[in-house]
Amino acid sequence: MTNILEVMQRRQSMRVPFNPKRQVPKESMRQILEAARWAPTAHNMQNFEVLVVEDKEVLEKIGKIKSRVSETFIRENYQQLSFSEEELLQKKVGILGSNFPPSWRDPAKLDIAVHESVARPLKERISGSPMLLIFIYDSRKRAPASEGDVLGFISLGCVMENMWLMAQTLGISVHILSVFSEESVQKEVKRILHVPKYMKVAFVVRLGYPITKPSKHLRVRRDIEMFTHYNKFGNIGEG
Ligand SMILES: Cc1cc2nc3c(=O)[nH]c(=O)nc-3n(C[C@H](O)[C@H](O)[C@H](O)COP(=O)(O)O)c2cc1C
Repeated sequence: MTNILEVMQRRQSMRVPFNPKRQVPKESMRQILEAARWAPTAHNMQNFEVLVVEDKEVLEKIGKIKSRVSETFIRENYQQLSFSEEELLQKKVGILGSNFPPSWRDPAKLDIAVHESVARPLKERISGSPMLLIFIYDSRKRAPASEGDVLGFISLGCVMENMWLMAQTLGISVHILSVFSEESVQKEVKRILHVPKYMKVAFVVRLGYPITKPSKHLRVRRDIEMFTHYNKFGNIGEG
């Protein structure tokens, strides 16, 4: 039996090109959807629908949508960056700055970064993936009395993790593309896929098989003692 913790530790974001000619087998797709199906959701609302996009022409249409990285993204992204492996190892949260263009790494260069940010087709981000899964939710509904529908969004996160772990066990790579949640992108995607206005994009994943092996990179997580508080806030590492 596969060790569930091992599957969780091996799961990772695959930010590499996928083989456009290698489809995800139908049976694997069913299993991924089955995993999504059994996710826990607040009040068992099952507050999601999934659009499976595998038709080449539709993928091409979506690939032509253009999007530009916003100033807000670049500005807020600075806070997540480490500038060396040593710094990342020490912080244990965030991402290495070398994953981003030079001007994105230096807050003093915000103006340059914004200026350099041009609209680019989504095709570049879909990067050969033969399949997209677009998870949407009904924005007119919410979990009972849940302010901002926080419980609804947590539920969507459970759906994401369930499907991701299943894909991982099947040897299928997953990469989340949050760019699809941007207002202008979302509008176009919804038009292409005939999605009603009241439905909103929760998250989009591209699925497939990498053409090349992803380069080894440092993956960090906080130690349990860094986030676990015993019996009162601040009482850390005393279990
Ligand atoms: C809600 C959510 C949105 C994310 N959006 C993106 C994204 O747009 N692009 C991307 O490359 N990774 C995205 N990620 C992946 C995270 O950056 C990634 O999970 C984190 O850095 C940890 O790396 P790992 O998945 O390889 O363990 C997202 C993850 C989550 C949970």
